[in-house]
Amino acid sequence: MKETIVSINRATRQGSASSADMGPKDGLGRPLHDLRISVMDRCNFRCPYCMPRDTFHDGYKFLKSTERLSFEEITRLARVFVRLGVKKLRITGGEPLLRPNLTDLIGDLSTIAGLEDLALTTNGVLLSKYATELAAAGLQRLTVSLDSLDPEIFARMSGGFGGVDEVLDGIDHAQRAGLAPIKINAVIQRGINDHTVLGLVERFRGTGVIVRFIEYMDVGNRNDWRRDLVVPSAELVSQIAARWPIEPRQPNYRGEVAERYVFADGAGEVGFISSVSQPFCGDCSRARLSSDGGLFTCLFASQGTSLREPLRSGATDDELVEMVRAIWNKRVDRYSELRAAVRARAAAAQDDADRKIEMFYIGG
Ligand code: GTP
Ligand code: 5AD
Ligand code: SF4
Ligand code: SF4
Repeated sequence: MKETIVSINRATRQGSASSADMGPKDGLGRPLHDLRISVMDRCNFRCPYCMPRDTFHDGYKFLKSTERLSFEEITRLARVFVRLGVKKLRITGGEPLLRPNLTDLIGDLSTIAGLEDLALTTNGVLLSKYATELAAAGLQRLTVSLDSLDPEIFARMSGGFGGVDEVLDGIDHAQRAGLAPIKINAVIQRGINDHTVLGLVERFRGTGVIVRFIEYMDVGNRNDWRRDLVVPSAELVSQIAARWPIEPRQPNYRGEVAERYVFADGAGEVGFISSVSQPFCGDCSRARLSSDGGLFTCLFASQGTSLREPLRSGATDDELVEMVRAIWNKRVDRYSELRAAVRARAAAAQDDADRKIEMFYIGG
C-alpha cells in the first residue's frame, strides 16, 4: 500500500495540535475518538450487498496470515490511537470470530488504560461457542448482524450460509454471558426484506436487545447499489410507530451513528442508521484499520496508509503517533454528504480513480 493519504477529496487545512498526547482535529475540526479494527478479511457468509458469491468464490485470494497484523501489532497500534484520543474500539471483520484465538486479543486490548468502550461486530454464527470466553476476557458489548427472521430471506441475504436459529442461539449465549447492551444491525433493502422489519422489532421488544435498521449503502464496488433499493429510515419510523408508538431520544454521545427511538410503553428502544437519507459525516470521528494494517479515514475511502510498514521496520510509538496525527490532520472525508456528486463524477470518468475500499476488508 502506498504512503498516500486516504481520501476521496483533497486535503485542505492542517490541524494544529502540538503535544504528542493531545488529540488531533481533522481538516473539518472533527476529533479522533473511535477506532474500528478489522482482524479478519474472510467471512463465513456471502451477503450479496457486501461479498457477492460470484466475486468471493473459492478461488478468491484473501490475505495470507503473515500479511495480517499480529495481536501484538494490533495492541501496540491501539495504544498509539488511545494516546491520540481514541476512547472506543470496535473489532470487526469480515467475520472477526474466524480469527484464531481472538479472545487473547480481547484480553490484551481490555487492559489498555484510557479505553472506555470495547465492542465487537459479528454475524453471530460462532457466538454460542465464543460468547462466554469473550465476556470473560473483557469484551463489554456486542453488535450482531441479522437482516431478517424469515429463514428464506435470511438465507438469501447471507448468501446461503448460517441460519436464523444459530444466530438467535448466539445472541442468547451473549446475553447470558452478560454482554450488554446487545445490538442488532439489520440492513434493509426494498423488495427484499423491508416487509420483515416488524417481525424483528416484535421479536426483540422487551428483551433489552436494541434493533437498528441500516439504510443500504453503496459501500465497495461490487454490490450493484441502486438508490431505489434504499428504504429511507423515515419510512421505517412511520411503519413501526403505527404499530408501537415510539418517541425520539437524544444520542448517547456526540456522533452516535444511530438515531434513537424508545417505545412509549417502556419496552426498550430501536435505532435507525440513515447514512443515505441523512448523512452524519459532520460528527464522524471514526478511523478504520484493515487487518493488514491499512489506516482508512472513511468507510468509502479509495486508499489507505499502511501502518504495517513502519511498524515492521522499527518505528517508535512516538513516530507512529505523529504519523497518525498527520493523517488525521489532513482528513476531509465526507463521502455520504457528497455521494451524488462523487458517483456522478466516477460514472463520467470511467476509470478506477474513485474505486472504494471493500466493506469486508475494513469492517462496517
Ligand atoms: P454504537 O457504538 O453501538 O453506537 O455503534 P457503532 O456506531 O459502532 O455502530 P456499528 O459499528 O454497529 O455501525 C452500524 C453500521 O452503521 C455499520 O455497520 C455501518 O453500516 C454503518 N456505519 C457505521 N459507521 C459509519 C460511518 O462512519 N459512515 C457510514 N456511512 N456508515 C457507518
Ligand atoms: N449497506 C449497509 N450496511 C452494510 N453492512 C455491510 N454492507 C452494507 C451495505 N452495503 C453492514 C452489515 C453489518 C456491518 C458490518 O455492516 O450488515 O452489520
Ligand atoms: Fe460477512 Fe458481515 Fe459482509 Fe455479511 S456483511 S459478508 S456477515 S462481513
Ligand atoms: Fe464518516 Fe465517511 Fe461515513 Fe461520512 S461517509 S460518516 S466521513 S465514514
